[in-house]
Order: sequence, then C-alpha cells, then structure tokens
Amino acid sequence: MRIDKFLSNMGFGSRKDVKVLLKSKAVEVNGEIVRDAKRHVDENGDVITVDGEAVEYVEFIYLMMNKPPGVISATEDKYDETVIDLLGDEERHFEPFPVGRLDKDTEGLLLLTNDGKLAHELLSPKKHVAKTYYARIDGRVTEEDGVAFRKGVILDDGYQTKEAFLEILRNGEESEIELTITEGKFHQVKRMFESVGKTVVYLKRLSMGSLQLDPELELGEYRYLTDEELNNLKEKK
Ligand code: URA
Repeated sequence: MRIDKFLSNMGFGSRKDVKVLLKSKAVEVNGEIVRDAKRHVDENGDVITVDGEAVEYVEFIYLMMNKPPGVISATEDKYDETVIDLLGDEERHFEPFPVGRLDKDTEGLLLLTNDGKLAHELLSPKKHVAKTYYARIDGRVTEEDGVAFRKGVILDDGYQTKEAFLEILRNGEESEIELTITEGKFHQVKRMFESVGKTVVYLKRLSMGSLQLDPELELGEYRYLTDEELNNLKEKK
C-alpha cells in the first residue's frame, strides 16, 4: 500500500498531515528516508520508522465496551448518540462496528471490531455462541419459568426459542436473574420474559462466548481485548 495510506491508517493523521511528516524527513523505509507520499511499501515486510521509532502494522482492532444506556449499538444514527461516538479518534479511524446489537436501554458487554470474519462467526446462528445476561424482573421469577426457558418458549411472533438457562439470584416482587441464550433474536430476553407474563426492567449483558465484561469498566468505557481474550474468542468462541 502507499506510504501515506499506511501512516494515516496507523494514526499519523490525515493524508495531508502525513505529507507534511514525509517532507520533514521523519519517515524511513528500511533505513532510507522517504519523502514521496506515493511510494509503495510492504506493510508486513518493510521496516517503517517515524522519528526513528518502528511502526507496527495493525489491521484489526478489538474493543470491549461497557455500553451505557441511552446509546445506540450502530455506527451512525440521525438522532441518537452511537457507541462509535464514544470512541477516541485513534480507535475510530479503524472503522470498528458493534458485533450484534444491544437495545438502547440495555447495558453491558459489547464487542467492537473491524474484523468482519470474527464478527460473522460470533453472530452466526450455526455457532450457538452463548450470551449471558443479568436482569431485574418485575415479578416473581419461578423454577417453572426456568423449565419453560429450557424447553423453549413461544415468542409474540410465533418463534420458538432454543434451550436457554435461567439462574434465579433473588426472588421477590422484583427478581434478579441471569439468563444464558445461544441465539440473538430481536429483544429476545425481554420477549422471553413477556412470554411468561413478566417484564424486564433492567438488562445488562455479562458475557459473549468466552469474553466476559471487565468489571473495572465503567459505563461508557472501553478497552482493547488482551491477547488471551482474543485468542480464546477466536479459538473457542
Ligand atoms: N435481549 C433483549 O431483550 N435486549 C437486548 O439488548 C439483548 C438481548
């Protein structure tokens, strides 16, 4: 690829900024000063330095966000703030997108990446990637609800859900639960509870496959996945 594109992609500003950088003789390719913005480089083989510091080529980014309520899981929206608006320029120029959707009022784990292949694998219905949610429910959740979710319940559009696992954490007028599902129908957790006559009043995603929400992340914060998290996600999902 062209050196100006490479440096711009690696966060050295716009093509125009990079041109200025090149003119200042700050950029070397394999030890040789390069001033021509059109010069082609092998991003995986050439040693490219800026002010003597090697620039590693990174194609994909993988971020974990603790999605706050009131923000849309999309790359752009006419009216509302999106999860992409919460990112810094350094991450945004990689053009990441959310892997799947959380409702506007849902909080918790959201993976953002520009790796379409991994996103596709995580979202493919054939892969049955488990997602665990914590929820507060208006009403008393019962063991019978757990049995019903295990067998599959019929949603308002006639769809029968796949096996899901309910753990009741606290029971009362308002209950606390964790629910693990392996599919991702629209508003699935809310609609599953509706099918047993109850209402979800708070919903937060805790995990997706092997990836767990980092409890250190405040609402709206994000961080890069560790190598271990990424390898586990790629290998085991
Ligand atoms: N199920 C829902 O109802 N909403 C979400 O955001 C995610 C799962």
